[in-house]
Amino acid sequence: MNSSVLLLCLFSFLLLSSLPFSLCEETTSQTTTPLDHLCNNLGGFYVTPDYCFTAFAADSRSRTADYNFLALISLNLTISNATDVRSNINSLLTSTTFSSTTPSSEPVRKGLQTCLKLYDDVISSLRWSAQSVSAGRYDGAKPVVEQAVGVPASCDAMPGLQLSKKNDGFSRIALLSEAVVSYLAN
Ligand SMILES: *[C@@H]1O[C@H](CO)[C@@H](O)[C@H](O)[C@H]1NC(C)=O
Ligand SMILES: *[C@@H]1O[C@H](CO)[C@@H](O)[C@H](O)[C@H]1NC(C)=O
Repeated sequence: MNSSVLLLCLFSFLLLSSLPFSLCEETTSQTTTPLDHLCNNLGGFYVTPDYCFTAFAADSRSRTADYNFLALISLNLTISNATDVRSNINSLLTSTTFSSTTPSSEPVRKGLQTCLKLYDDVISSLRWSAQSVSAGRYDGAKPVVEQAVGVPASCDAMPGLQLSKKNDGFSRIALLSEAVVSYLAN
């Protein structure tokens, strides 16, 4: 918009005239994508616009996606994150520290195994949620995704587990999925 159009707009507002308002609107309003709308409205679910945009930027299709596809993208990002955490736990378990059972490492090994199982379960339940969501059933997916958010806390509660960093990453992306699914279920 050049400055003379801007001036004209301003002038027409000031005079409350019916001058070319449509011209002004066209040039001042920006198109709000579903991504913009979603990311700016998840505050009630403890997800900041900043984190939301950053997380969705991992999949370039987000920019043009509709709401349903955004939910699927967030679920898939959550699933790949869980898969990543899971393989980290697995390599910890197969590392020399835990492959041979010594009395001192036993509680930690048990904890890791439990944690591995939790992530196994969460991956399959998130896949199920994604199917639900792709069929438009947000209400069914909601409790399942809510449960996923709690998995890292359960893992952190195991004795001697030092997974916090990765765990936290999963928490945040799971919280995003929960927020998106809850927002769309409403
Ligand atoms: C999500 O992942 C599944 C399984 O890998 C894939 O079939 C589907 O196309 C993915 N959807 C999106 C939106 O990324
Ligand atoms: C998991 O999520 C965290 C936080 O959003 C991110 O830093 C990390 O790169 C993600 N990992 C994968 C494999 O997506």
